[in-house]
Amino acid sequence: MTNNGAKQELYHPTDEVKQNAFVKDDQAVREASYADPVKFWEDRANELLDWYEPWDKAMDNSNAPFYKWFVGAKTNIIHNAIDRHLDTQRKNKLAFIWIAEDGHAVSMSYFRLNREVSKFANVLKSMGVKKGDTVTIYMGRTLEQVIAMLATTKIGAIHSVVYGGFSTEALAERIEDARSRVLVTQDGSFHRGKVVNLKEIANEAVRRSGHVEHVVTLRRTGHEVEMVEGRDFWWHELMNLPVANGSCETEVMDAEDPLFILYTSGTTGKPKGVLHTHGGYQVQVATTLQYVFDLNEQDRWWCAADPGWITGHSYIVYGPLILGATSVIYEGAPDYPYPDRWWRIVEEYGVTVLYTAPTAIRGLMRFGEAWVKRHDTSSLRLLGTVGEPINPEAWRWYHEVVGGGRCPIMDTWWQTETGGFMITPMPTTPLKPGSGTKPFAGVIADVVDEEGNPVKPGEEGYLVLQHPWPGMLRTVWGDPERYRQQYWSTFEKQGWYTAGDSARKDDDGYFWIIGRIDDVIKVSGYRLGTAEIESALVAHKAVAEAAVIGVPDEVKGNVIHAFVILTQGIAQPEEAELKQFVRDEIGPIAVPAHIEFVEALPKTRSGKIMRRVLRATAMGEDPGDMSTLAD
Ligand code: WTA
Repeated sequence: MTNNGAKQELYHPTDEVKQNAFVKDDQAVREASYADPVKFWEDRANELLDWYEPWDKAMDNSNAPFYKWFVGAKTNIIHNAIDRHLDTQRKNKLAFIWIAEDGHAVSMSYFRLNREVSKFANVLKSMGVKKGDTVTIYMGRTLEQVIAMLATTKIGAIHSVVYGGFSTEALAERIEDARSRVLVTQDGSFHRGKVVNLKEIANEAVRRSGHVEHVVTLRRTGHEVEMVEGRDFWWHELMNLPVANGSCETEVMDAEDPLFILYTSGTTGKPKGVLHTHGGYQVQVATTLQYVFDLNEQDRWWCAADPGWITGHSYIVYGPLILGATSVIYEGAPDYPYPDRWWRIVEEYGVTVLYTAPTAIRGLMRFGEAWVKRHDTSSLRLLGTVGEPINPEAWRWYHEVVGGGRCPIMDTWWQTETGGFMITPMPTTPLKPGSGTKPFAGVIADVVDEEGNPVKPGEEGYLVLQHPWPGMLRTVWGDPERYRQQYWSTFEKQGWYTAGDSARKDDDGYFWIIGRIDDVIKVSGYRLGTAEIESALVAHKAVAEAAVIGVPDEVKGNVIHAFVILTQGIAQPEEAELKQFVRDEIGPIAVPAHIEFVEALPKTRSGKIMRRVLRATAMGEDPGDMSTLAD
């Protein structure tokens, strides 16, 4: 990103956008909220959600940084996402339009969704799953994945969705950490017409991790898979049993009861189980989706992420359902069978709002605008992006070619940990390509130096969140100390949350995210810890030591570059063998683009790898100050 905060192009919303906007004057709404964020969120909690019983206290900071929201309230996010719609016309509205990679589609009304969720909830209960238990879900992008999540939540259990692109070790570790006794998976998923053998990976992960007593397998691809007698059951067989009848009580939960765990990469090899709860999270996702994407009854919303990531949890599953929206889910790859696949879907299903990642935009941009132009995309009225900074060139292409110059782009900055958007435009905000503009209403954010002083406009600093928000993570599953250490220790005195990103503010107070300052790499928008990849590499017998860094890439944002020191006396393996090894352990997203065999790694005298030096070496640049180098 080349922006230095100087004045540059500004995109103003059209009159039509202004007229239709849910929030007419976003700046006024933001400013009014900053003075009393708790009140802002409390008002939204009353306005957008139903509660079985109200709260005694909107926010409790008596045990910071373990904040609580809507203390004493009774709720279940399923009540807001499904149950309450069944008494209204919305029961006949489509909740989801699911499109298979091969083109066939399934539409599901809120009424039917409730039936399917209730049935699967009964299945889970019959397997002994109770309130507070965890269920691991390892599936492809199917409707059943969403149903499994909602069913788990309905009975008060906690879902842990593991992205279907992860492999054996990554899955085993996550099952182990969450201590799940039930795993829901599918035989395989489709990717570019090929089968990804999820069940085989699941079987091996279950063997490695222990714990799992029952595995439910959805038949999707129909290929032959190994089913273990007594442990494994087919989804369709269970759903036909009398026990799986179509009604099931929604469990009454405390606002602060756990809703889900979602593992994300951090600075150590062990992934962090980010924990979200029922009450605050539902307020965060419903409010942000309403204010930023302006959803109304006419919309067809398409969040093109995977339900297995936070973006999917918040903006495919929970947010749109709470607002009673119709969502599109597409199973496959954006360029399959041709690079017009997405634009065909927009045309065929009349998508009005599209939310995706810069890497996908850049990937499709490569094929040229003719693929977009052959379709009628005039139904689109708003666009969105998330996951990494968007370069102005991709922004303009998205705006002009996809959005026909009329659709504002909502560049939303947030994290697995934040639950929902934190820095984002609203449709009426004047836009600058590459900037997420300003903190959302009820969000207090700044860019500060190491001492916590705000930096001058144009200067780089730490992005901090200075006031708790309802959708914040509550802890790291099973490791409260790591939660405190990771997010709250840098600015402990001030009580601020550090995001791990660096940023700038410009003269207009617009935020520009620069990127991660910790050992996290964003590859195609996926978040990967260098330590995770390094520990996969050193698990190979030929590797004594490894260091990985991210190197800028035109389409993927970053690619992984690995430096490897070989074990003495073992022959150098082929690069391809090491890559395959990482693929089998973590998954295709973690595979290094380059592996370089080296004799030594640059380290400080205290033994810390100097990634800065490695990065300069990989990019052929001057490594700068080397005075702390040990050797
Ligand atoms: C990055 C994804 C710039 C950032 C929802 C953050 C962004 C990390 C943006 C979280 C954006 C996310 N502009 N950078 N609009 N959105 N990021 O947990 O580095 O997968 O800390 O959550 O993605 O990644 P995560």
